[in-house]
Amino acid sequence: MEPMEKMLDHYRYGPADEANRERLRALLLPEADRFAEALFGYMASDPYTLSFFPTEEAVRRRKAISRTWFQALLTDPLDEDHLKRLHRAGKTHLDIGLPGHYVSAAMSFVRGYCHERVAALAADPDEARALTATVDKLLDLNLDVMTEAYREEELRRVFLSKRTETALIRWVERLTHGLNLLLVVGLVAMTGAIAALFVSDVIQVPAGRLDVGVVKALGSLLILWMMIELLHAEVRYLRGGRFTLRVFLELALVAFIRKLFVAALEKSDPVDFGLILASLLVLGALFFLMARTDRQEGVE
Ligand code: HEM
Repeated sequence: MEPMEKMLDHYRYGPADEANRERLRALLLPEADRFAEALFGYMASDPYTLSFFPTEEAVRRRKAISRTWFQALLTDPLDEDHLKRLHRAGKTHLDIGLPGHYVSAAMSFVRGYCHERVAALAADPDEARALTATVDKLLDLNLDVMTEAYREEELRRVFLSKRTETALIRWVERLTHGLNLLLVVGLVAMTGAIAALFVSDVIQVPAGRLDVGVVKALGSLLILWMMIELLHAEVRYLRGGRFTLRVFLELALVAFIRKLFVAALEKSDPVDFGLILASLLVLGALFFLMARTDRQEGVE
């Protein structure tokens, strides 16, 4: 909260306003009860604001609060204590869960009310204009301080949610990094297993049919090649490179090519064979489109 001296300076509230305030005191103080009734009438016209005053006692208290506030507006020394009381009023509104909008709207009513009373009571239009300008500064300052509690609360909430957000993002980043490392370990293990499969395929070639053995070994080799590609892509990604879907497409293509080899050797059902061919065609088309887009975007 700014000190009162600065606040008054910011609102260009000077000695002329203090003189106007004295005149306002003479004109409006006798009407404090009238004001309290009018403000309550305004609050009672809305079922939501009225719901804050469910008993006769609450209504009586509200009118007393409005009267005291109006008197303080015109008579209180404009010092730090005055600021503190206004800030406390704002805090009370916040604590009872009253949205700041209703305070601003009520202040607009108060402004209209004061303008109307000043116009009716001032000696002439020139005086009314000068007094109205001072009333406006006082009401603006009051509203400013009373709504500060809302702004502080909003800032606190934004700050809190920002801190939670940052902590959460940092946690997720660490988790994904850990999972990526796990993925690398898994890929290395799988690559080792496929290398072993390839070796076993090669060893078994002399024992069986040469053509079947060679094609099987070729299939394993293709998969080994793709595993190396996958590992390469993962390492590139861990070093901050771009995640590329193409490598998965390549993997699927290789898997289907291997399937096609095996199907050709085993003389499988023509429908199955046709389906594998069709799948390969679709994957090939996708691969072509993706490679073309990558080339256009200048991706390696
Ligand atoms: C021109 C606008 C308003 C002004 C100047 C104003 C002023 C005040 C002040 C000075 C207090 C006493 C705070 C304290 O010392 O703890 C207060 C309390 C309160 N205000 Fe306002 N208020 C305004 C608008 C409203 C509105 C629109 C409502 C709507 C329901 C409202 C509801 C209340 C309630 C329920 C309390 C607590 C009353 C109690 O303690 O019995 N105020 N207000």
